Amino acid sequence: MMQEIQRLATLALAQVQNGKNLDHALTDVRRLAKGKLTDHQRASIQDAGYGVMRFRCEIESVLEQLFAKRRPTPPLDALLMVATYQLLHTRHAPHAVVRYAVETASVLGGVASKGFVNGVLRNVLRQKETLLQQAGVTEEGRFNHPVWWIEKVRAQYPLQWEALLQQAQQHPPMTLRVNRRHNHREQYQLRLKQVGIEAVPVGNDGLVLTHPVPVGQLPGFDQGDVSVQDASAQVAVELLALHSGQRILDACAAPGGKTGHILERGNGLELLALDQDPGRVKKMEANLHRLKVAAQCLVADASRPDTWWDGKVFDRVLLDAPCSASGIVRRHPDIKWLRRAEDIPALATAQERFLHALWPLVRRGGRLVYATCSIFREENQSQAEMFMRQHPDAKEIPVQDPLCEQGQILPDPVHDGFFYAVFQKI
Ligand SMILES: C[S@@+](CC[C@H](N)C(=O)[O-])C[C@H]1O[C@@H](n2cnc3c(N)ncnc32)[C@H](O)[C@@H]1O
Repeated sequence: MMQEIQRLATLALAQVQNGKNLDHALTDVRRLAKGKLTDHQRASIQDAGYGVMRFRCEIESVLEQLFAKRRPTPPLDALLMVATYQLLHTRHAPHAVVRYAVETASVLGGVASKGFVNGVLRNVLRQKETLLQQAGVTEEGRFNHPVWWIEKVRAQYPLQWEALLQQAQQHPPMTLRVNRRHNHREQYQLRLKQVGIEAVPVGNDGLVLTHPVPVGQLPGFDQGDVSVQDASAQVAVELLALHSGQRILDACAAPGGKTGHILERGNGLELLALDQDPGRVKKMEANLHRLKVAAQCLVADASRPDTWWDGKVFDRVLLDAPCSASGIVRRHPDIKWLRRAEDIPALATAQERFLHALWPLVRRGGRLVYATCSIFREENQSQAEMFMRQHPDAKEIPVQDPLCEQGQILPDPVHDGFFYAVFQKI
């Protein structure tokens, strides 16, 4: 089955090389397997795809050092990256990785490619230490991020930049949010323990699993007893300072992670949840249905209230804005390769537009919570400062959460990178 794992991971990566998002590419290739994959095989294909994206520069450099005259053509280049990732970063038996990669090469590239793939991978094994040392000479090879990204993190976080780039190469934690309407967190922790899943509390509703498990193994998941949501994302509900009966707008809501949390926590809330992506709105509706909570879900452009707003002000607005996602790279390692430096100012301009369009919808005394899963200042502190300059009827409420420094949560082993700003209308 290793051969099928390599083949499908290679096909997914070939799609990513053509600009496709990794998760969509993985979904596509799983379809090719027509439901014949076990949980373990699905996880191995995903791990190979994610692993190559996580360590792309290092792997490319290792392979470059071994290509003398001949360079592999697609999809053999992707296959070599998958197998090199498996040799350098997984516990798969090296001889099996090489043997099956040679077979996969003959399926994907013809019999003539077998010797080439065999030779390259055997050299990866033989010269591993020297190749890795050479790959680590450049910052790109050492940190596995594009140069512009490394420069930005270094400039914005002169003390933490190396730790941040290292953290972005780790595996993310799996964190749960316990549905308070269904069970206390301690009760749910016990339910997990009874099925052999260890977890420790985080925040007010969260549990971080010691080892990630497939969602299907979580007791009561289908009944809505629990959701998967990062600890930093769970902070949003605290900053909203909910009271019963409030009218709330969740402006960029799908797939409904924070919407669900708001509804689990508040009583008698009237919640309008918007997203402009119809497919994601469907997912949100399914999520809310699973959690047994209700909101009005609408496919709409949050930056154009004239097309959907009924004119009644909101007590709370949550703007979980589209952003670079630079704080969650370890969850989506393809992001760093798909983004371009010029995307960041474009995203910041769009975020400014959202803020400006939604502020009039907040009632006096009400608040708008602005959130991103980014660590770039253009989308975060600079955005908040600009908002305060442009809106004299806003007061910024300092984010008191101990995790945040001026609203910024930096990624650590338990938290994703997030930013929050809270504006009250005066
Ligand atoms: C960070 S995600 C939201 C995550 C969500 N709040 C959660 O906690 O599950 C940003 C969302 O903004 C949506 N979006 C992008 N442009 C939009 C627009 N003009 N109007 C409404 N939603 C938009 C995207 O489709 C995406 O679902």
